[in-house]
Amino acid sequence: MNNNLMNVGVLFSELDIKERTKIIAQQINKDYGTNETLVVLIVLHGALIFGADLVRNLEMPTEIETIRIKSYEGTASTGKINLVTPLPTSLAGKHVLIVEDIVDTGRSIHFLLNELAKSEAISLKVCSLLDKPEAHEFPVKADYVGFTISKNFVIGYGLDLNGKYRNLPYIANLTKA
Ligand code: HPA
Ligand code: MG
Repeated sequence: MNNNLMNVGVLFSELDIKERTKIIAQQINKDYGTNETLVVLIVLHGALIFGADLVRNLEMPTEIETIRIKSYEGTASTGKINLVTPLPTSLAGKHVLIVEDIVDTGRSIHFLLNELAKSEAISLKVCSLLDKPEAHEFPVKADYVGFTISKNFVIGYGLDLNGKYRNLPYIANLTKA
């Protein structure tokens, strides 16, 4: 994928992501154990692909839920977040792991944690494929992070630019040509 306006450079290959996903899953398996049910709440659309790969490495009884929020236009944050789908109603009394594609400003996860505070989940943790600490504007911290990256805009493996490029099997840096 290359055109006049953008350069892409692979940041994490398909294999890098696969190996890292396995390691995170092992840590989650260790932390939660194999007996209790874990609700994996995948934040659409960005965490669709990561979430699908992550759950296949989990060993406890797992329930998959999804939530759709909309928070970004292009490469800049608009500051607005909308819940496009209602929160799952079945979280009370369960361990819930929110799966995100990226903690950038932290606005999305901050918003979701606030919304889910009313859910009566026994525990609420966050697993994010990517973390951009230099971009944080909200005091949030993911419990599990795949890769820590710089402020650059990235695409692929679920992450989009205006809805496109989520299908790339790798994660790439996007820079103006
Ligand atoms: N890429 C794609 N989507 C995003 C990013 C990014 O770097 N940050 C927040 N949403
Ligand atoms: Mg996006």
